[in-house]
Amino acid sequence: MRIDVITLFPEMIESFVAQGVTRRAYDSGHVVLKCWNPRDFADGNYRRVDDRPFGGGPGMVMLAEPLAACLAAIRSERQDDRHSAPLIYFSPIGEPLNQHMVRESAASVTGAVLLCGRYEGVDQRFIDTYVDRQISLGDFVLSGGELPAMAWLDAIARLQPGVLNDSDSHAQDSFSPDLSGLLDSPHFTRPEVWQGLPVPPELLSGHHAHIAQWRRVQSLRLTAANRPDLITEARKAGLLSAKDERILVDKN
Ligand SMILES: C[S@@+](CC[C@H](N)C(=O)[O-])C[C@H]1O[C@@H](n2cnc3c(N)ncnc32)[C@H](O)[C@@H]1O
Repeated sequence: MRIDVITLFPEMIESFVAQGVTRRAYDSGHVVLKCWNPRDFADGNYRRVDDRPFGGGPGMVMLAEPLAACLAAIRSERQDDRHSAPLIYFSPIGEPLNQHMVRESAASVTGAVLLCGRYEGVDQRFIDTYVDRQISLGDFVLSGGELPAMAWLDAIARLQPGVLNDSDSHAQDSFSPDLSGLLDSPHFTRPEVWQGLPVPPELLSGHHAHIAQWRRVQSLRLTAANRPDLITEARKAGLLSAKDERILVDKN
């Protein structure tokens, strides 16, 4: 898939994707990424990309015109449109990013165009005309959309085939269908005893069914404690067995 990123700080995105899992996704050719700076599409000596907000108030607003020119150049190079590659604007007012959305985007063959806002945000007329989806990283305000774009890029990259060393590892992650959408269980590694704390004996038993059962119990209890909303969702979707329900009632 091809991802184009509109950002005033392309070097942030480029240095991020040059490392780790994202790098493997790009090196393998599963994801092709190109950054675009709207400043390159702005008029005048100062190549201005922002202006004061109508109605007054603090801060600046990103101008619609350089963004529209930048997007037109992207569409022309990609030779596609919003139907095959939606324009995603990262914004605190968007729908919260979750693994379901990530899985959907990761399965896209064509990819997407990402828009990273800065200042107070983007002129609403550009959003109304061109943006297909607004996505939030959470209920907090960052200085720019680059971090949310990087989070999205990382989450999508690790779902590409062959990118993780162990292809099963994302199937066992929190929110995955294999875990009924629940949270992952705790992980332990060597030594068997660290600072007097032993590894749970079930994990050392070598008995696959016992290990799977221990992990399911932990996953259910952790989710009930930290994210009861996910238990409700799993229950609604019919993903909890009678045994799961007994585990949830029995706190020991
Ligand atoms: C300072 S913020 C603008 C905040 C905006 N005035 C508001 O209150 O909703 C500048 C840019 O950072 C990005 N941003 C900030 N917080 C974000 C979040 N939680 N999720 C996604 N993008 C965010 C958006 O692209 C936004 O346009």
